[in-house]
Amino acid sequence: MALIDPVILKTRLGDMAGRFDVDALDACDSTSSELSRRAERGAPSGTVLVADRQSAGRGRRGRVWLSEPAASLTFSLLWRFPATTPLSGLSLAVGVALAQAIEALGVAGVCLKWPNDVLLRREAGFGKLGGVLIEMASDRRGFQVIIGIGLNLLRPVGDFPDPVAGLEEGCPAVPERHAVLAALLRELAMVLDAFTVDGYFGQKSQWHRFHAWQGDPVRVLGDEREIEGRCLGTDDDGSLLINTGDDVVRVLSGDVSLRRA
Ligand code: BTN
Repeated sequence: MALIDPVILKTRLGDMAGRFDVDALDACDSTSSELSRRAERGAPSGTVLVADRQSAGRGRRGRVWLSEPAASLTFSLLWRFPATTPLSGLSLAVGVALAQAIEALGVAGVCLKWPNDVLLRREAGFGKLGGVLIEMASDRRGFQVIIGIGLNLLRPVGDFPDPVAGLEEGCPAVPERHAVLAALLRELAMVLDAFTVDGYFGQKSQWHRFHAWQGDPVRVLGDEREIEGRCLGTDDDGSLLINTGDDVVRVLSGDVSLRRA
């Protein structure tokens, strides 16, 4: 039996249980790939696929996403938006939902790195707590978005290119996994509903509250150029603003790597 029981999750979701249709698998290739196939077959908005193991988990920028079943949460959420909804800044809004939910669970030090990494601020420095992979498609009904989320409950063991963290490092005891998933889904529904009306603008101040490097010197590594400057946060559409000294540069693409200088 999978580590998530949809019946227990339903009780944890309370009055929001009707917003979600949850399936829990022992294993699949990638929850996002499988959910995308189900979306093509007409799965409704609010469908959630959670899996203990992924054989081909995908991260941003073509990277592989590895996760340990008992030490992490790995799931994808299908959300449909009307064709008129501007979706710029959606991945940042998702980050706000995750950070708010994690903070409300009693985890100290959660913060966000543009465009959509969830970090934990610890004495030892920042560590990556989780990541978001957003994939969009459109058809005559509007936009179909697959929001893939990987979150470490325990700190991953092994060699990683960048420091990693687990929820356990920010709280006295890791909350039970159904409680964590329910808190994330509830907050996602609220933020995504608000996003449909106000776009990223309505989430901007919260994103800045959680921003790990607000006002700090940063380096943006793109494929063709590198920008150094002070990070001013985000614009109303979610683009990153860097004050280079001579100019304020807008970074639009999420396909860059951001480092604290
Ligand atoms: C990142 O690179 O930081 C984003 C990682 C997103 C990983 C999640 S795990 C659940 C979903 N299924 C996938 O294959 N990827 C996302």
